[in-house]
Amino acid sequence: MAETSSKRVEKYGQWAVVTGASSGIGREFARRLASEGFHLVVAARRIERLDDLAEELTTAHGVQVRTVEADLTGNAGIEAVVKATADVDLGIVVCSAGTASPGAFLKASIEQQLQTVDLNVIAPMQLAHALGGQMIGQGHGGFIFVGSTSGFNGVPYMSNYAATKAFVGSFAEGLRGEWTKHGVDVLVVHPGPTRTEMVEMEGVDFDKVPAVWMAPDVVARKAVKALGRRSVLVPGAPNKVMRFMTTRLLPRRASVAMWGTLMGRATNDDLL
Ligand SMILES: NC(=O)c1ccc[n+]([C@@H]2O[C@H](COP(=O)([O-])OP(=O)(O)OC[C@H]3O[C@@H](n4cnc5c(N)ncnc54)[C@H](OP(=O)(O)O)[C@@H]3O)[C@@H](O)[C@H]2O)c1
Repeated sequence: MAETSSKRVEKYGQWAVVTGASSGIGREFARRLASEGFHLVVAARRIERLDDLAEELTTAHGVQVRTVEADLTGNAGIEAVVKATADVDLGIVVCSAGTASPGAFLKASIEQQLQTVDLNVIAPMQLAHALGGQMIGQGHGGFIFVGSTSGFNGVPYMSNYAATKAFVGSFAEGLRGEWTKHGVDVLVVHPGPTRTEMVEMEGVDFDKVPAVWMAPDVVARKAVKALGRRSVLVPGAPNKVMRFMTTRLLPRRASVAMWGTLMGRATNDDLL
């Protein structure tokens, strides 16, 4: 049993929603929030993984966990998540579910590219619209959006993904300007390279990109801590340096060219 509710539970409310909780950064958000005493609604497509996580967190922290099998690229998945929160004191929503199809833009089908937009852009927007009003009505709550350092400028061979993350960054900053005065905190966390299943894709060798890797639990811990203290978080000193270099030091087109060289190498698509 979580012996005492954390200050964050008192501030935000008793329940947290985490999308993409079946692996990587989302799963670590769920673990972090459960360790602080939040009850959870966790969503993803792989329900057996969510069930395992629910058992782990219930045993370790005594919290309630509702698992929602949901494909968030469609309305039915979004509605299932919203329905699971209908009767709870909603505290925090974390939109971590995301996908990418690295490589030359034309190599992936348009259906695949649109699914990336549906999951990375439309789903967080739908959840913000469906759940934000409830938080504003109650006068407390927090939203965490997961962007990416690749959203700071165009990234050749990851063009669509980087653009979806640019949307997330801008959207979250805008919402913060609207919602803070109603007691709802909004944070966008922009992780850099993080060791999760997302970077283990077939045909892509991210080790060809010089990077300082972070662990997903560190990203989640830093983001939860930053909620309510700031609106934008780039976790880890190397990522902060990279952000400074690509957004302040280098001319934008030089940043884009640099990323093009690196991602072209990682995907082998610069040879096409
Ligand atoms: N890893 C990195 O280097 C990195 C860097 C910057 C930003 N990010 C961002 O961090 C977030 C989490 O990614 P991650 O690195 O933790 O990757 P991950 O381990 O692959 O996790 C992705 C999560 O999204 C869920 N998901 C994928 N498609 C879905 C769908 N159609 N409907 C519902 N859920 C879906 C997956 O669950 P199911 O497959 O079970 O549905 C999984 O739980 C993403 O938004 C990603 O863009 C990652």
